[in-house]
Amino acid sequence: MSDVQFDFKGKNFVVVGASSGLGRQIALELAESGAHVLAVARNETRLEELANASPLIHAAILDVLTASADDWTAVIEGFVEQHGKLHGGVYTAGISGATPLRGFDTAFAYRVMETSFWGAIRALQVMTKKRISQERASFILFSSVAGLTGEKGLFAYSAAKAAVMAGVKSLAHDLARDRKRINSISPGYIRTGMTRQSEGDMGVPENVIKGHLFGIGEPKDVAGMALFLLSDRAEWVTGQDFVVDGGYMRGAWN
Ligand SMILES: NC(=O)c1ccc[n+]([C@@H]2O[C@H](COP(=O)([O-])OP(=O)(O)OC[C@H]3O[C@@H](n4cnc5c(N)ncnc54)[C@H](OP(=O)(O)O)[C@@H]3O)[C@@H](O)[C@H]2O)c1
Repeated sequence: MSDVQFDFKGKNFVVVGASSGLGRQIALELAESGAHVLAVARNETRLEELANASPLIHAAILDVLTASADDWTAVIEGFVEQHGKLHGGVYTAGISGATPLRGFDTAFAYRVMETSFWGAIRALQVMTKKRISQERASFILFSSVAGLTGEKGLFAYSAAKAAVMAGVKSLAHDLARDRKRINSISPGYIRTGMTRQSEGDMGVPENVIKGHLFGIGEPKDVAGMALFLLSDRAEWVTGQDFVVDGGYMRGAWN
């Protein structure tokens, strides 16, 4: 048991990108804390497996690249009708991959931006509506330390994550009228489906391992920050980016 326990009983959250990695861990921890969770992603098998882990987790299949406002509304309204308005949402959907300037695939580079940034904007447009979410609801988008440092061979990913971070600062103003909050989290290197794939392609670069003062992370190392930002203990926190990186920004850049 950890030092801090959150009580989200009677609260409702959407987690987009819940079939794997950080989103999956956040969905599980929200449900363990008593919340109803709408878990959104594309992979039906992995979503089913997640929903089987807790009766409080409800799965919805949706592709953030193609989902229209009507698709988002249908999925989220169904959940709201059953459980009540949202107390917040977490958008973790993202893809990564090399985009070297001399030979990148333009369609892939656009997909990187669409998944992390525009998909989040389309989801937020629906999740932040008055009839969908409570006043004081809290939203989290996922950026990355790559959005701050830029990473070799990853210009599209780094730019998408910088866009998320900058977008959040601006969106905080849009949401303040209803006292709704939005923040971003910038993780360092966390072992998930995303990083396992790139490790398969090129291994973990030695400088990345060395840069993380506490070693590379696990999804639970980031989930605590997400739960805090969703909780009412963070009710005066908005428009910020939170780096959770096991010391990477210190170890690699100082
Ligand atoms: N892991 C790291 O080291 C790290 C570091 C910094 C930032 N981040 C960021 O943290 C977030 C979560 O990363 P992760 O490591 O947990 O990655 P992950 O394990 O690969 O999970 C990504 C999630 O996004 C979903 N997703 C991707 N494309 C989608 C689409 N078109 N429609 C719907 N869902 C989609 C995937 O679900 P389906 O495939 O089922 O659709 C999956 O649930 C990402 O935004 C990532 O950029 C990760």
